[in-house]
Amino acid sequence: MTFSVFTGLTPQAPDSLLSLIGLYRRDPRPEKIDLGVGVFRDNLGATPVLAAVKAAEQALLNTQATKSYLGPEGDIGFLDLLKPVIFGDQVSHEVFGVQTPGGTGAIRLACELLKAAKPDLRVFIGAPTWPNHTQILDQLGIETVTFRHYDQRAQRLGFDEMMSVLETARAGDAVLLHGCCHNPSGADYSLDQWRAIAELVARKGLTPLIDLAYQGLGLGLEADAAGGRLVLAAADDGLLAYSCDKNFGLYRERVGALYTLSRDAETLDLAASNIRALARTNWSMPPDHGAATVRVILESEALTAIWKSELDAMRRRVADLRQRLATAVPALAPLAGQHGLFGLLPLSSAQVARLREEHGIYMAGSGRINLAGLTVGNIDTFARAFEACLQGEPA
Ligand code: LMR
Repeated sequence: MTFSVFTGLTPQAPDSLLSLIGLYRRDPRPEKIDLGVGVFRDNLGATPVLAAVKAAEQALLNTQATKSYLGPEGDIGFLDLLKPVIFGDQVSHEVFGVQTPGGTGAIRLACELLKAAKPDLRVFIGAPTWPNHTQILDQLGIETVTFRHYDQRAQRLGFDEMMSVLETARAGDAVLLHGCCHNPSGADYSLDQWRAIAELVARKGLTPLIDLAYQGLGLGLEADAAGGRLVLAAADDGLLAYSCDKNFGLYRERVGALYTLSRDAETLDLAASNIRALARTNWSMPPDHGAATVRVILESEALTAIWKSELDAMRRRVADLRQRLATAVPALAPLAGQHGLFGLLPLSSAQVARLREEHGIYMAGSGRINLAGLTVGNIDTFARAFEACLQGEPA
């Protein structure tokens, strides 16, 4: 065998969530149900391009005069117009925004910045969380401290446990919180709980990193941002990683942003110079098309109104499916009080595999379902298969 530098590599398992896409596609059963990766689906199982997006893309096609570079921050108009959607009209801090390739790019950049700022910092993080959170933190060699966000068996938020674990944080540690529509559990904090988190973050001098990837798909655009706003307003500095992939239905265009907040303009300039340098070595400049599309929508009152009504229709469809499933399956009643695309079912990995193999029902190995994959037509099939699986094999 000839020498290869690559033989020194450790084999990596394929990403289990993303491999579901191919597994599902290859399954010949017509009655199969895809509850895997987190994309919105309509009642026909399709993920259509939003009308507001189509119109904005058409306008871009007609008017865009150049594809020349925009610089490391990406589309400044996009960043400025998105800011009030996220933070409201009054922001107590200085804010610096940079466009990123999707929410993942924003999380990655935020974690790199935190690591550069304080190499020995710890990031407090709930479990379970979106698997890429821990993968990014581990890859960067950042120490994590875990609290239980959600008890999957009891289907209950672990708020008190989180608060007592956060009490052990040191000034300068960070805490990563899902702004809304918790992925994978759908279990969000109440406004009172967000207030308590904000008080603790301020008292202990922690840096909040809010991951807001589903704004508008839980309770609505304003309500979904309210918790993150409270926590950021209470902290001296903070970070917010944003994704437009779901609420604008732009998925593969990879539209994200990282907003950095500080009370002090000079501190923010220092952070901004580091963010630009990190962005430069990661992707140099972000992809343009998706962010330009969002900018065109937000520049136009008419397109913004269309987008908001399309987003609201998506939100209502998912909320309706959530209520239907909670009613159809008494064991899943807690779903009714949760939000967004996801629910974390009290299933073992063997039961998840059985649902896939015996019933053609695909979900993340953790037991997470994407509720938008259900339809009025298949929800009963799913409910029966779930109950059969629970009875057939105790969890
Ligand atoms: C998901 O959790 O399904 C989505 O955020 C897609 C992804 O990148 O994991």
